[in-house]
Amino acid sequence: MTVTLETSHATASHSGSATKPTVLMCRPEHFTVSYRINPWMHPEDPTDTSLALRQWQTLYDTYVALDFTVHLIDSIPGLPDMVYAANGGFVLDGIAYGAKFHYRERQPEGPAYMDWFRSIGLDVREPEQVNEGEGDFLLVGDTILAASGFRSDTSSHQEIAEIYGREVVSLNLVNPSYYHLDTALAVIDPATIAYLPSAFDERSLSILRQRYPDSIIATEEDAAILGLNSFSDGHNVVIAERATTFAQDLRARGYNPIGVDLSELLLGGGGVKCCTLELRA
Ligand code: ARG
Repeated sequence: MTVTLETSHATASHSGSATKPTVLMCRPEHFTVSYRINPWMHPEDPTDTSLALRQWQTLYDTYVALDFTVHLIDSIPGLPDMVYAANGGFVLDGIAYGAKFHYRERQPEGPAYMDWFRSIGLDVREPEQVNEGEGDFLLVGDTILAASGFRSDTSSHQEIAEIYGREVVSLNLVNPSYYHLDTALAVIDPATIAYLPSAFDERSLSILRQRYPDSIIATEEDAAILGLNSFSDGHNVVIAERATTFAQDLRARGYNPIGVDLSELLLGGGGVKCCTLELRA
């Protein structure tokens, strides 16, 4: 299989000439909650895989309608969290930095995603340090924001800096409910982020305040339904339907929020962004 990744041009404007991203997703065919590795997960409660599939399909259809290129990786039985493709790695400059999962339950996903990256011709770098891909690494303009605290090791921040030769800013997460960076911070465009202050330690907060003074500050209510776990093309921002204040703030700044309902996938502790891995040429 050969897939060409479109070169994306980052733009600071959000006037409609939005970048069309290429993303990787994984159908939740084997989704369930059978173990607990974050506070959202309750293995004793039932899950509905067919509902998860239908909700996931609306996200997929939304991306296709927005003209995104969407690739799919086959889901693997016994890996219920594989739907959260964001954790499968980090892809930039045609290089895929593989994931090395913190919890044993998800460890087989790392090689599965790396095999997929190889199959489309990406230059795959096997990770030495524990990291959970785009769950903890977010590109803002030319800078990689990198988090640790619950999943990715700080040593992976050094590793990713060496691989891409870009500026990497280390942040520390402090609230177990916001265990991945993409649950506490959203990248809206190359110069704009949204975040939940209480999810970060003081040092990280002062970095965020200083670097992004015009950020959207999320409410606890919106964050608590993983409203920040969203995906933006620089103009259209696909968010959790119930994140109403976040939607208003986005609209007030000229963005186009699009709400989707992924309530079933929230039972695993993930939302829109968790289901989306950006592939950047
Ligand atoms: N159950 C998964 C875990 O705890 C959810 C991952 C959500 N992904 C994300 N990018 N935040 O690892």
